[in-house]
Amino acid sequence: MRFPDCSASPPPAEGGAAAGSPPAILGARREVPLLDGRRVPQVFLDNAASTKPLAEVHAAVAEFAARYSNIHRGTGHDSLFCTERYEEARRIVARFVGADPERDVALPVRNTTEGLNLLATTFGFGPDDVVLSSLLEHHSNDLPWRGRARVEHITLRADATFDVDRLERRLREHGGRVRIVALTGASNVTGEVLPIHEIARRAHGHGARLVVDAAQLAPHRAIRMGPHDDPGHLDYVVFSAHKMNAPYGEGAIVGPRAHFSEAAPYLQGGGAVYAVGLDHVIWADTPERQEAGTPNILGLFALAAAIRVYERIGLERIAEHERALTRRLLRGMAATPEVAVLGRDDPEDLEHRLGVVSFAVGDLYHQLVAAVLSYEHGIAVRAGCFCAHPLIKHLLRVTPESERDLEQRIQARDRRFVPGAVRVSIGLHNTGEEIDRFLFALREIAARRWRGRYEQDVATGEYRPAGFRFDFAGEPGFPREG
Ligand code: ALA
Repeated sequence: MRFPDCSASPPPAEGGAAAGSPPAILGARREVPLLDGRRVPQVFLDNAASTKPLAEVHAAVAEFAARYSNIHRGTGHDSLFCTERYEEARRIVARFVGADPERDVALPVRNTTEGLNLLATTFGFGPDDVVLSSLLEHHSNDLPWRGRARVEHITLRADATFDVDRLERRLREHGGRVRIVALTGASNVTGEVLPIHEIARRAHGHGARLVVDAAQLAPHRAIRMGPHDDPGHLDYVVFSAHKMNAPYGEGAIVGPRAHFSEAAPYLQGGGAVYAVGLDHVIWADTPERQEAGTPNILGLFALAAAIRVYERIGLERIAEHERALTRRLLRGMAATPEVAVLGRDDPEDLEHRLGVVSFAVGDLYHQLVAAVLSYEHGIAVRAGCFCAHPLIKHLLRVTPESERDLEQRIQARDRRFVPGAVRVSIGLHNTGEEIDRFLFALREIAARRWRGRYEQDVATGEYRPAGFRFDFAGEPGFPREG
């Protein structure tokens, strides 16, 4: 695999099998068919949604699979082996975000959504307690708090960036009622990276604790929770392995052990107890207390294996590589007048953003642009609202009247007019050539050059070339019916 032909050198892994070469990612450039019958190496620019597995992670999962057994229960060699490695993986995950090994613990969960749902149940909110969130949030860091506390969304500046002083003002105005500040580490729509340590200082100054939704941040920037007595300390960090090239159904919450021991168990069942009588339960201590049921053992091994690769490369090198690609991308977009980027768009100011770029192309519907990119250029992106409806409506200035009208249509199974954007999201494996292929396609689309006659599906809002379907019947793999 060749790495980028862009100014920043790619991030080769040092040591191990991948020494000196970039890490191999399964299917990163798999050939895909196009509408005109050609096959081209796919350009995968949908990494904010999910990432493809690192070959090394996949190999580690295959290796562990043969020894797979339940943990904390069995006496067989495999079970004892898996138990030991599971606890080791837990420590690797906590260390990855700079947790305090004495006071913090990593709790494996399915993904960031489950992690934030679990966390939201642990605070025992009173009726006056406030959670300060923001307009930038993914639904996963918004909906779990609603109904449990009074949730307020901090508004954004005119350029859609986050304003720490606005947060400070609301913390002050709430006069000690804010229990939790729940913010994203980096937006899955605009790519903005929030100053989480500064935010922590402000939150702590008003007696609140900080929850960081690090789903987007963790794969791209080093996270250091910091010492507990540092005002910039991050109290809770939640992230997903599937966004870190380990898509095996795992995620993690890292936070204070004592907090999870005081909270009621999120799931109730085997593994989370010390003793059960017919009328009483003695719940286990943390972490078992919050881990009822058989966990995703291979998923946690996969996350630890991905962390090993990320750390071998170095998060700073990954960030440097992705910054170079983002600069190239934003420069190309700036040179295409029909393209409007949502949020920060300065190619030379990359300190506070990731390579997650949402945009519009003139008045073309976002799903049409995404379809042409896929069917005619072999480029994978995502289009729509990105599970951040309030943010998209804010960015696109959707009025309350049109919101109501849209919601009626959606309930009537008509998604043709749902507002949204197209999103490109850069990952560790992308190259300068791939960015150039994307920019070429973007210019073609902006000039309204495409071959297919596209039709929109009323129920989904998605577009497809008339009379054409990708033929998946010939593709390998399970599951297949019949
Ligand atoms: N949260 C993921 C995204 O932004 C799925 O696409």
